[in-house]
Amino acid sequence: MKYKNTVAKIQKLKNNSIPFSTITVYDYPSALIVDALNIPMVLVGDSASMVVYGYNNTIPISIDELLLLTKAVKRGIKRSLIVADMPFLSYQPSNEEAIQNAGLLIKNGGADAVKLEGGTEYAERVSKIIEAGIPVVGHVGLKPQSILIDSNYKIHGKKGEGALKIYQDAIALEKAGVFSIVLEGVPKELGQIITKKLQIPTIGIGAGNGCNGQIQVFHDIMGLFNDKIPKHAKRYTNNYENMKKALSQYCTEVENREFPNQENTIKMNSLELERLKKNIENI
Ligand code: KIV
Repeated sequence: MKYKNTVAKIQKLKNNSIPFSTITVYDYPSALIVDALNIPMVLVGDSASMVVYGYNNTIPISIDELLLLTKAVKRGIKRSLIVADMPFLSYQPSNEEAIQNAGLLIKNGGADAVKLEGGTEYAERVSKIIEAGIPVVGHVGLKPQSILIDSNYKIHGKKGEGALKIYQDAIALEKAGVFSIVLEGVPKELGQIITKKLQIPTIGIGAGNGCNGQIQVFHDIMGLFNDKIPKHAKRYTNNYENMKKALSQYCTEVENREFPNQENTIKMNSLELERLKKNIENI
């Protein structure tokens, strides 16, 4: 019997000296791969806004669009803890809306927890969602949903004051009850300081290798796009080129009538074929 990762199991990863890996996942086939590797936690990230739906940033994705992906991921995951991202404006307006929408991702989507962006100013909101029985992952540092305010995706906390704010945000979220926290786009040193201070596991993306775990966007590390990937990411394989080559070979083989070949072809019994021909003649 395969065991399911729980919030308590993720929290225990804090004590491991070896960092753990997590990854975003948005559909059934990639969920099957991720689950086969027993990756402890996966995120149905709002980065789907760009990498799945093709929007410019994470602002447009709706709760319904994210819900659809969460359901598909759920069907492929047996063991990993599934965290669903809360899209822009699904938790910002009020505690009530935040609980309703987090509840949708859990009840309808099958997620085990939700993640939302925001520091000290969202600590109360986080605690209300947790009071409703929904585990929450925090997200501080670079917050992609703040792109309209920040104007770019630059590293946060490079200077003392900004770094202190992120440090305080992380502490406030831990106090509010998050069971893990994503540190995005912060200097390695700040990632290490926050990791040392908190009792909960930190998960870095562009936060250096001193965090308890790492997260990456599936499409970045799998090389599913041809354009530049962020500095924090590494392309482990070039699936854009692999798939393009395979697709081009398919097209060529179709044009040359090499595909489908004998192996891919179902043949009719010769007697039945004769009967068919006769029947056609008699029409
Ligand atoms: O949506 C996402 O992919 C994320 C990760 C960058 C942590 O929030």
